[in-house]
Amino acid sequence: MTTSANERVAHAPDSGTPVFEARDVKVYFGGVKAVDGVSLKLMPGLIYGIIGPNGSGKSTLIGAMTRLTKLTSGELLFDGEPYHNASASSIARKRVARTFQTVRLLPDLDVRDNIRLGADGRQDERPNLLSRILGIGGSPATDDAIDKAQLHGFESFYPSELSYGTQRRVEIARAISTNPRLLLLDEPTAGMNQTERAEISQLMKSLKNDGLCQLLVEHDVQMMIDTCDHVFAMNFGKLIAEGRPEDVVRDPQVQEAYLGRKWREHA
Ligand SMILES: Nc1ncnc2c1ncn2[C@@H]1O[C@H](COP(=O)(O)OP(=O)(O)O)[C@@H](O)[C@H]1O
Ligand SMILES: [Mg+2]
Repeated sequence: MTTSANERVAHAPDSGTPVFEARDVKVYFGGVKAVDGVSLKLMPGLIYGIIGPNGSGKSTLIGAMTRLTKLTSGELLFDGEPYHNASASSIARKRVARTFQTVRLLPDLDVRDNIRLGADGRQDERPNLLSRILGIGGSPATDDAIDKAQLHGFESFYPSELSYGTQRRVEIARAISTNPRLLLLDEPTAGMNQTERAEISQLMKSLKNDGLCQLLVEHDVQMMIDTCDHVFAMNFGKLIAEGRPEDVVRDPQVQEAYLGRKWREHA
């Protein structure tokens, strides 16, 4: 179900303090201007999307937001505080979680332990270290993430025993077990069927109800319309359009960037 236009007006993306802001962010790799002057604001509790053809800079922007990728210039702000120069272990960085374009789970750990890798980074999980060494007791953040991602029954499975869609949910569970304020999802549904896509969309909407701000990179138009409150379109490292998903996908510049081909063919 899509959010109505009225609801979107009530959550106008320009009011209040953004959870995240990028100001004129540039990431150049030698002569390649992967991200070339992007400014955007993300408000708490909304789901944002990024569309754009392959090579338009979407993953590089996500890498810059998590500070895994060095900025050439520009500013990143979290809750209004600059963090582009803060230490890699800074709170702001810890409150921004991501999933990668290809699934990255540790093959020798079961589902619960893969998710626990995220939870272990949390201050409030430290008292559980002893019980973990002793092999007793649980991790509330891990249990909570398993709950939210509806992974009950899969806890002791290894990644190779899971469908692609379930592996993705484990990755998302690991990301949310860090208790982020902002979750970045880089093409989480690539290679999924419609049912699995709908599951991811549903999971994102339930996380939104908990107040989590999310940014989704996705090629599937219907998924974007069903899931996102606000969409940005990128081409050649720049934002070329933004607004309601159903408007952005019809924008002539956006259509031209994709050369009129069906969006899903780019996934
Ligand atoms: N580490 C890197 N070194 C050099 N060029 C890169 C690197 N990462 C990405 N690029 C280039 O930057 C551009 C944007 O890539 P990317 O952000 O992956 O695009 P998208 O995610 O939209 O497909 C592409 O031209 C890509 O080849
Ligand atoms: Mg990418």
